[in-house]
Amino acid sequence: MLTTRFTELVGCRIPLQQAGMGGVTTVDLGVAVSEAGGLGMIGAGGLPADDVRSRIEEAASRTAAPFGINFLMPFVDSSAVEAAGQGARLVEFFYADPDPKLVDLAHKGGALTAWQVGDAEEARKAEQAGCDLVIAQGVEAGGHVRGTIGLLPLLDAVLQAVPDIPVVAAGGIGTARAVKAVLPAGADAARVGTRFVAAEEADTHPDYAEALVQARAQDTVLTTAFEVMWPDAPHRVLKSCVDAAGAFEGDSVGELAMGDMKMPLPRFAVPCPGRTTTGTISAMALYAGQSFGAVTKVQPAADIVKELSADL
Ligand SMILES: Cc1cc2nc3c(=O)[nH]c(=O)nc-3n(C[C@H](O)[C@H](O)[C@H](O)COP(=O)(O)O)c2cc1C
Repeated sequence: MLTTRFTELVGCRIPLQQAGMGGVTTVDLGVAVSEAGGLGMIGAGGLPADDVRSRIEEAASRTAAPFGINFLMPFVDSSAVEAAGQGARLVEFFYADPDPKLVDLAHKGGALTAWQVGDAEEARKAEQAGCDLVIAQGVEAGGHVRGTIGLLPLLDAVLQAVPDIPVVAAGGIGTARAVKAVLPAGADAARVGTRFVAAEEADTHPDYAEALVQARAQDTVLTTAFEVMWPDAPHRVLKSCVDAAGAFEGDSVGELAMGDMKMPLPRFAVPCPGRTTTGTISAMALYAGQSFGAVTKVQPAADIVKELSADL
């Protein structure tokens, strides 16, 4: 297997990172990817420190391989970052100006830190904030999208801006060919999100996974439509869900299960449907990158890792 600055720094076997994707990215998924040789990421979203700690303990009890924790900045809790830094190999942030205080907090516990960025200036700020690596996210990416330019020009610009730290390429990568292509383009690893939404271990509603299987490559759209809880933040989803939410009559499209509690899900809200979500799934946020043409079935995460790394 190919060795890169990413594999050497993080200590995984394959230059492949599974993207942190909120509630979709369960401990089961992170562990499965890490066991298969990639870097598995577990979503921490807005979880409190105790929950993050227990996820890390569970993951560490099931794999000796490195894994990471992902935080979305609009929902971050600094004591949770501190807890993540004490147990994860990588603590990663997305969607705000890089913050040296959070980076320090994660470093204090011994973790590496990363920031997912959408332009070269943000990459420079991440390095100045003390990050050990950055992820360059092209506009092809699924979920919330930070930048406005395509992965290849962005990768070039980021590599030039931060030549001394590893750069991971993200956005629209869903096949072994695409993983193999970004490495000679200068990336130290490929980051893959949408493919893993359809992993057996992900917390994904079956209708969401099926929608990814059925849609065609041109069926995503970059929009700010799903803005309830997080306004003015562009995201890439299946176009069909924007249309379905627009046509939906009523304030709530369904219910989200939070432990034993059920929470109504407003129309155009940010959460995507997990296994236990009920309601009109087709009208919820069905995040998808331009990579989703590669999603042909629901399969074990280890098989996805094997397929993606087959040509390395
Ligand atoms: C369902 C979904 C949820 C996402 N949630 C997050 C998140 O919580 N944190 C984050 O850093 N990135 C998130 N992303 C973006 C990914 O980190 C990554 O940039 C993207 O998946 C790469 O493009 P791809 O989906 O074409 O592989 C999400 C992406 C998807 C598809």
